[in-house]
Amino acid sequence: MADQGVTTLARRDLIAMLSTNDPAELDVMRRRAEAVLLARCGDTVHLRGLIEFSNICDNDCYYCGIRKGNRTCDRYSLAGEAVIKTAVLGGTMRYGSIVLQSGERTDERFVSFVEDTVKRIKDATRSEELPCGVGVTLCVGEQSEETYRRFFAAGAHRYLLRIETTNRTLFERMHPPEQKFERRVEALRTLKRIGFQVGTGVMIGLPGQTIEDCADDLLFFQSLDIDMIGMGPYIVHGGTPMAAWPDVNERSPRERFELSLRMIAAARLLLKNVNIASTTALQAIDPAGREEGLRWGANVIMPQLTPRDVRAAYLLYDGKPCLEESSQECQKCLEARIKSVGRKIGYDQWGDSRRFTERKRGCS
Ligand code: 5AD
Repeated sequence: MADQGVTTLARRDLIAMLSTNDPAELDVMRRRAEAVLLARCGDTVHLRGLIEFSNICDNDCYYCGIRKGNRTCDRYSLAGEAVIKTAVLGGTMRYGSIVLQSGERTDERFVSFVEDTVKRIKDATRSEELPCGVGVTLCVGEQSEETYRRFFAAGAHRYLLRIETTNRTLFERMHPPEQKFERRVEALRTLKRIGFQVGTGVMIGLPGQTIEDCADDLLFFQSLDIDMIGMGPYIVHGGTPMAAWPDVNERSPRERFELSLRMIAAARLLLKNVNIASTTALQAIDPAGREEGLRWGANVIMPQLTPRDVRAAYLLYDGKPCLEESSQECQKCLEARIKSVGRKIGYDQWGDSRRFTERKRGCS
């Protein structure tokens, strides 16, 4: 393996890292990733309180439990007041940033709801520690440039839009024809141009996805100079078309989990100062999945803030954890998990991506 501390990793290095099963090599890789994280981003784990405010979706992605075509999904949309109240609760729980996530809609009613809710959250969460209110990340899918601009002007400063996979053939197999790979790449570019901190990511262990594809995913993040990464294992949702693909179980959940950890470490070694989330999907496979994500180079955790009565309806995949805990219990549990791996918790701060701030200062 190349010395990842100083050199840029080549595709073959990434492939070697993602495919090794040698325990000693894996240990070296994990330690190097952790060392790069500590040197470039510090030992603070940043928190983003997650508010899944609606599961109504106009898209029909073949893997996703809240796809339009899933008739068995109980649809909900929280009222503006409820979203704001939840964000304020997050602020009082000292989460410096929140993520507003939902199914994808582009109608004006939805767009103005998001715009207005962001403005009101920013106003309602001002405090001595956070004079501009909590940091707001949006994860509401592909929108028009004008809509992104409205969201940015409203005060959202980060945007997450996963590319899902950079293998175009697989992308097309996973999505109905209306969804275009190129349009999504263009959306990521547009978001950056507007000034958002931009996050993307992929699902790992998809049927038909190769190790080479995974290496290309990482190189894609690099080529777009992405600020944040959110990626995790693909997990089957029984009520989706992908569940019936003959190759859906080509990899076991354990294999997808292990590949996800390698992807986190490789992303850290390649991209160094980005924020990387240790996603909930990791914990759906392994009870200590999110701690493992942190140990392999992640530095962001998204504690659940979604009101409990709707949480189970936001089921992207089977076996989603943390459905019953109160938001306070989630906080306690994550605190313990973060401490167990020797990291600090970033309360009352936005926790921006260093890559973004360093690029702005011209030193990245
Ligand atoms: N398994 C894992 N992740 C999923 N997502 C959607 N469906 C699944 C699934 N079955 C992820 C997608 C999406 C994010 C919000 O959730 O990557 O971008």
